[in-house]
Amino acid sequence: MKSLLQYKSTIDNFLERGIQTGEPEGLYEPMHYILGLGGKRLRPALTLMAAEALGGNVEDSMEAAVALELFHNFSLVHDDIMDNAPVRRGQVTVHEKWDLATGILSGDAMLILSYQLFEKYEAGKFKSLVTLFSKTAREVCEGQQYDMEFEQQDEVPISLYLTMIANKTAVLVGAAMKMGAILAGASTQVQESCYNYGLNLGIAFQLQDDYLDAFGDPKSFGKQVGGDIIANKKTYLYLKSLALSDQEQRTELQHLFSIKPGKSDAKVKAVKDIYLESGAADDIKREIKSYTEKAFAQLESSGIKGESLQALKAVGEELMFRTV
Ligand code: IPE
Ligand code: IPE
Ligand code: MG
Ligand code: MG
Ligand code: MG
Repeated sequence: MKSLLQYKSTIDNFLERGIQTGEPEGLYEPMHYILGLGGKRLRPALTLMAAEALGGNVEDSMEAAVALELFHNFSLVHDDIMDNAPVRRGQVTVHEKWDLATGILSGDAMLILSYQLFEKYEAGKFKSLVTLFSKTAREVCEGQQYDMEFEQQDEVPISLYLTMIANKTAVLVGAAMKMGAILAGASTQVQESCYNYGLNLGIAFQLQDDYLDAFGDPKSFGKQVGGDIIANKKTYLYLKSLALSDQEQRTELQHLFSIKPGKSDAKVKAVKDIYLESGAADDIKREIKSYTEKAFAQLESSGIKGESLQALKAVGEELMFRTV
C-alpha cells in the first residue's frame, strides 16, 4: 500500500483533470486557487487507503474521495471568513484576495460540486455515501457554530470543547474512513471501526492544529500563527490553562481573552507563556498521543491487517509529528 504522500499525488492529478469547471471565471478561479495551494489531502487519502485495505477498487473510489476534499476546501474558505483569517496554505485567503461575496459563492459551488461527484455511483452505494456525507456535513456546521459561540462564552467545559472539535473536524475524518469501507462493500461492523479510527484520529488532529496554531513555525504552518489567540478561541490550551493555573494566572489569562480581536504580538506572547507555564502545552501533547492510541485500537478491531494496518498507523504517527 502507498504512503500518504503517494496518495496525495494521485489525488492532486485527479483534482487537476477531473473537475469540470467553466464560466464565469470569477466563480471558478478562486476554486482553482484554493485547490491549487495544495494541502495534505488527508481526507481523500484515507478514503482510498481504507478502500484498498478492505479489497475495494481504488480508482472507482476516487470521486467519493475527492468529494470529501472539495467539501473540506469549501469549509476552509468559509471558515477563513468566519475566523477573519488572512493566510491559508501559506498564501492570502480567498476572501482577502477577492472579496467576501467571492468567498461565499465559490465556497458554495465547491460544496455543490462535491455532491455531483457522487452521481456516478449506482443507487445502493449512492444512497449510503450521500446519507453519510450529508449527516457529516451537518455535524460540521454544528461544530462550527459552537466554535463561534465559544468565542463569546466565559465558561466552556472541556467536555463541550471536545464535542465541538469532534463535530467541526473529526467527523469528516471518520466519514472519510467509513466511505472507503462502504466503497469496498465492508460489513457494518467494519465500517464502524473504520469510522471510529478516523474520529479519534480527527480529535488528535484538531488538538494538534490548536497546538500548532500557538506554537507552530510560521514558515511551515501556512496559517497565521497565534490566530486562535487573537480571535479569543477557547481551545484546549486555553481551557486547560484555566484549569491548571493559580488564581493570579487565571485572572491574567481571562483578562487577555477579554481584549477584542485584533493583531497584538504582546497578547500572543503573554498567552503562550501562560500555556507553557501552566503545563497545558505538555498536557495537550499527552492528549494527542492518547487519542491517536485510541484510534489505533479501533483500527485493530476493524480486522485490517498487515501492510495496510501499518500504512494506516503510519498516517497517525506522521500526523502527531507534523508541522503543517
Ligand atoms: C485544516 O485542515 C482545518 C482543520 C480541520 C484543522 P488541514 O490541516 O487538513 O488542511 P490542509 O488541507 O492540509 O491545508
Ligand atoms: C476548522 O477549524 C474546522 C473547519 C474548517 C470546518 P479551525 O478554524 O481551527 O481550522 P484552521 O486552523 O483555520 O485551519
Ligand atoms: Mg480557522
Ligand atoms: Mg474556525
Ligand atoms: Mg485551527
